[in-house]
Amino acid sequence: MSLLARWFVFAALTVLVGAVAFAPLVMRAQATAALRAEAASARVRLIRWVALLTAAAFVLDFILRLIEGAATTREAVLFIVRLTLLGGLALALRGGRAESPALVAAGAALILTQSLSSRSASLPEWVLPVLADWIHFIFAAIWLGGVAYFAIVLVPIVLRRRELLASLGATIEKFSPLAIMSVLVIGLTGIMQSASFLDRFEALFNTDYGRALLVKSSLFAALIAFGAFHQFIISPQLRAWRARAASSYEAARRFRISIAAEALVGALTLAAAAAMTVLPVANLLP
Ligand code: HEM
Repeated sequence: MSLLARWFVFAALTVLVGAVAFAPLVMRAQATAALRAEAASARVRLIRWVALLTAAAFVLDFILRLIEGAATTREAVLFIVRLTLLGGLALALRGGRAESPALVAAGAALILTQSLSSRSASLPEWVLPVLADWIHFIFAAIWLGGVAYFAIVLVPIVLRRRELLASLGATIEKFSPLAIMSVLVIGLTGIMQSASFLDRFEALFNTDYGRALLVKSSLFAALIAFGAFHQFIISPQLRAWRARAASSYEAARRFRISIAAEALVGALTLAAAAAMTVLPVANLLP
């Protein structure tokens, strides 16, 4: 049950960060402006719903900690901070400030509260590990939250409004450098964290913790392959919309399927991450 609650927290936070950060980080160029404007109201609706789901996930996670006797004063404080941040985010939306950078800052702060209750925070020298955990999760959320944003918000719009196909192609192209940077940062910070919790190479194969890490790393490789497919095959076909409208529309339909599949693999990766946080670490085992 706590695995499910942890996955719910990770998934909700990831989609929330994607919803608040995608447009300001990726859709600033003129080539993406029409799609950004068309998606504005769907974006606000998504943020509202996911903020609600994130609050529900935090409440569930906290209740389970209470039941398990793991709800310390620090956890209680972090829980209140999380709900306060989500309340602030909801107020900003009500006040018509959906484009405010404060929303992105609130997303990053919510992830920080998660890192402050992660396993890294219980290490004797916790500052660097917590920082690595925070950066790891932020980039995972920007990347996978971006994938979710494509699947939930952008692709359905473009399938209704074909004149926005080229704008979708440009958005994939703008997302690509951010995705590549995320892969590098996630890999590096992931290795740093692994060094804290896995002290022997064999532990990768003969402990549940190590096997969960192997599953997560394989899914990570699959996500990289999806990204390459979208960047090198789908994006050029969408951008050729004016010259070849029919094949661009076909590319958008293929993209709808492959981005949904990528989002599913992302959800499984987060499940593997959640499993790692509830399993005993490999370096404590004999
Ligand atoms: C897209 C791929 C990945 C995603 C979405 C992801 C996501 C996450 C998340 C959400 C956490 C929990 C953070 C927290 O509780 O504050 C985490 C922790 C961790 N990740 Fe990843 N990660 C990915 C790839 C990797 C890779 C490639 C490695 C190793 C090379 C790695 C190693 C770790 C380790 C060791 C932890 C700490 C787990 C613990 O608390 O025991 N991750 N990851």
